[in-house]
Amino acid sequence: MAASNTPKHIAIIMDGNGRWAAKNKLPRIEGHRRGAEAVKRALRAAQENGVKTLTLYAFSVENWNRPKDEVLALMDLLERFLSEQIPELIKRKIRLRVIGRYRELPERIQTLLHEAEETTKDYDEYSLGLALNYGSRTEVVDAVRAVNQAATVGQIDINDLDYNSFRQYLYTRDMPDPDLVIRTSGECRLSNFLLLQSAYAEIYLSKVLWPDFDEAEFKAAIAEYSSRERRYGKTTEQIKA
Ligand code: FPP
Repeated sequence: MAASNTPKHIAIIMDGNGRWAAKNKLPRIEGHRRGAEAVKRALRAAQENGVKTLTLYAFSVENWNRPKDEVLALMDLLERFLSEQIPELIKRKIRLRVIGRYRELPERIQTLLHEAEETTKDYDEYSLGLALNYGSRTEVVDAVRAVNQAATVGQIDINDLDYNSFRQYLYTRDMPDPDLVIRTSGECRLSNFLLLQSAYAEIYLSKVLWPDFDEAEFKAAIAEYSSRERRYGKTTEQIKA
């Protein structure tokens, strides 16, 4: 059940899988495997705490630059995760939305994602956003190209463009902006994640490495969010009036 000041949308930069593996003297991929278990916990915690949308930064456009073995292992892990978790999403009526440059992902992953997006598209209470091959700067470039195309064919007048109409061209067009962005592992950066959408989001930095992130951590982030005052550029007096 959600309290009235529970964030509706939480976005998470899941960081620290590699450090978790090093700390436990295990190969990096084992850190990612444990990271995938933490993803399942976070998804359960979101639904149990009434958080309607959870968006996870699972693979960035920059992650292709990691060693080839690690990229292949991550794609393998993602494929297995999707095959196992899609039936679970359907059972729990959670809509899947993918944000990022979809077409550059391995074909079998594209197929799984596409089918899951289609099957879950009518679930309107909870959703899971997966940022895959995602980067904010690429997203803006793709949106500008789409705007240009729409203007060229006369669908829009470029002089009428404002942020509200521009956001319809972002990958996140039909998603609410995040209220809370969490980053794990003590790092303090946004790393090209939802930069426009997070303009007014609260940021929560957790020291915990992602594979150790559990429901207690999730609840601590929500509690911290609930204690903050969001002013959107206004004064405290205006907010309280
Ligand atoms: C950061 O850890 C995490 C990632 C590269 C992406 C997140 C991936 C997962 C949680 C695993 C699989 C996800 C799904 C959805 C199945 P890092 O390797 O950058 O950690 P480090 O900074 O400690 O090296």
